[in-house]
Amino acid sequence: MIDCLPHTHLLRHRISRGLDLAGCHVDLTIDQRVDHIGISAAAARLAEELVAAHIGCERRLVRVAALSPSGRPVATVQGRGATISVSVSHVGGLFGAAVCGTAGVGLDIVDPAEAGPALDAWFTPDELTLFPDGDGLLRARLWAAKEAAFKAAGLDDGFRPRRVAIGQLDTAGYHWTVRSRHHRVCGRGLFMQLDGPLVAIAVADAVTPLHLPDRELLT
Ligand SMILES: CC(C)(COP(=O)(O)OP(=O)(O)OC[C@H]1O[C@@H](n2cnc3c(N)ncnc32)[C@H](O)[C@@H]1OP(=O)(O)O)[C@@H](O)C(=O)NCCC(=O)NCCS
Repeated sequence: MIDCLPHTHLLRHRISRGLDLAGCHVDLTIDQRVDHIGISAAAARLAEELVAAHIGCERRLVRVAALSPSGRPVATVQGRGATISVSVSHVGGLFGAAVCGTAGVGLDIVDPAEAGPALDAWFTPDELTLFPDGDGLLRARLWAAKEAAFKAAGLDDGFRPRRVAIGQLDTAGYHWTVRSRHHRVCGRGLFMQLDGPLVAIAVADAVTPLHLPDRELLT
């Protein structure tokens, strides 16, 4: 664990990007906490703002709330489920939201200072062969990629990091596969490096139902 970096990074200003990832358009905004609102609420309000802008409706008509019991965020417009995928993440004083109208989207913000060797227990044998890395950010990249992929898969299952496999990883992006008991979902992702935190964005591009022998391989 690297202990010397601050756990809260300040952005000079809000960062908003429109990204093209594997043929999908993703709107992404990263901002920092204002004191009077909790970080989860701030992230949900930001996601509502992005959904409203994306579909072109009034901001007050949109709600983003956690689906129970998984906790996956979903958007409604005037009380009806919206066909747009949303994802949020927060770390330290930072929070972000991403929306995509054509694929499941996942966002994860990781503070590299918190991505220590304890995470190695959650990496697959193939992922462990990537160590040691050149710039010391591999753990943060792998972890952020796994969490973003899990969110993009939208399986409403518990997060089991070893069932999220990251491949073809470099400093710019990655491919991913998430397996649950009934499905395999795969997709692509990319990274953005802020002043300190690392941001991973993922989109899902295929869901495959698993047959019984495949399911039995999952323990
Ligand atoms: C998804 C998860 C790994 C993210 O944790 P994290 O990286 O520490 O935190 P982040 O700030 O990056 O992301 C948190 C956001 O992820 C989202 N999230 C939570 N569960 C999610 C899921 N199943 N799918 C997609 N997004 C999810 C929420 O919007 C959450 O925001 P909130 O805390 O303000 O409600 C963690 O929330 C988790 O393990 N969720 C699964 C919960 C579970 O096992 N539920 C029961 C089984 S169905």
